[in-house]
Amino acid sequence: MIRMGFIGAGGIAQEMAKTVRGMIEAGNQEICLSAVAARDPERAGKFAKTYGFQEAYGSYEEMLAGGGVDLIYIATPHSHHYEHIKLCLKYGKHVLCEKAFTANASMAEEVLAQAERQGILLTEAIWTRYMPSREMISRKLKEGAVGTPVTLTANLSYLIQQNQRITDPALCGGALLDVGIYTLNFADMVFGDDILKMDSSVMYFPTGVDKKESITLHYRDGRMAVLQAGTDGLSDRQGIIYGEEGYLVVENINNPQSLTVYRDRGSREPVERISVPKQITGYEYEVESCIRAIKEGRTECPEMPHRDTLRMLRQMDSLRQAWGIRYPFE
Ligand SMILES: NC(=O)c1ccc[n+]([C@@H]2O[C@H](COP(=O)([O-])OP(=O)(O)OC[C@H]3O[C@@H](n4cnc5c(N)ncnc54)[C@H](OP(=O)(O)O)[C@@H]3O)[C@@H](O)[C@H]2O)c1
Repeated sequence: MIRMGFIGAGGIAQEMAKTVRGMIEAGNQEICLSAVAARDPERAGKFAKTYGFQEAYGSYEEMLAGGGVDLIYIATPHSHHYEHIKLCLKYGKHVLCEKAFTANASMAEEVLAQAERQGILLTEAIWTRYMPSREMISRKLKEGAVGTPVTLTANLSYLIQQNQRITDPALCGGALLDVGIYTLNFADMVFGDDILKMDSSVMYFPTGVDKKESITLHYRDGRMAVLQAGTDGLSDRQGIIYGEEGYLVVENINNPQSLTVYRDRGSREPVERISVPKQITGYEYEVESCIRAIKEGRTECPEMPHRDTLRMLRQMDSLRQAWGIRYPFE
């Protein structure tokens, strides 16, 4: 039985708590909700009661020192992931850390190397990498559903600019690390990493971080990915892979629900639509992957190996460099 502990009791922590509760209620006996730590002990206590954690702490370190946890879920702003990962490694705990994994690639290099030396699981909670939809998309493309894929588009925008976490440079604010990361991961999963060059265009908040952006990836073999991410309005969240014989529409690249194939020979009717398997929330897949990795003594999950986390951070570093965005602690 893997005893799960949470660092942070905010928005996404609630979703993860519901998910793990759902896994337990569905009969999973390999995981339990052991402890939650929040900066405010009263809030930690309420959170523990709501979701059925055994213990609540008003200090992250006290929870780790307490010894009742094996796998820590880090659910704090990106700016704090590096510090919180280091804290977990100090106490020899396995870690599932929210995206963006760290503020930049050099921070990630340090903690990933440390986890590998210690033989501890450290993985990024970029949920789309762990979902069955990933394999379903690959299979459809391999089967030739759209012929040879040549171009893809993906977008992800939400009206989230009112949140301090999104605009504050000290919290690694900006669209890129919060939502743009999903568009880059989508392109990476579908078209791979043989990128010749990246073009981009950005608009800023008055605080200096990115409000929205468009990114175009040019692949060495002639394919192209056109990505858009933003924080000041909604988008349809579609990912579309265009090929010589048709196109495949992925509904919601942030939590794919269905794949629809069009082979546009004078008809706009889809030729096939498939839905993803029923899920609790979609976060269960990354937790299940952590359970397998810990049981097998691995330091990384095959769905998001350390080299992939680093590659995505290097892409985001280079975009931020082009845009002149540095966080205050960099
Ligand atoms: N995978 C996904 O689908 C998904 C969705 C949403 C967010 N996320 C990721 O999850 C992380 C947290 O996002 P969220 O929306 O849950 O954030 P949030 O609710 O604003 O904050 C989460 C927790 O972080 C701590 N925190 C907040 N502001 C802080 C500050 N100024 N200084 C220090 N600690 C602070 C608090 O911990 P305490 O409870 O201890 O006070 C808070 O409860 C982000 O990295 C985000 O990218 C992922």
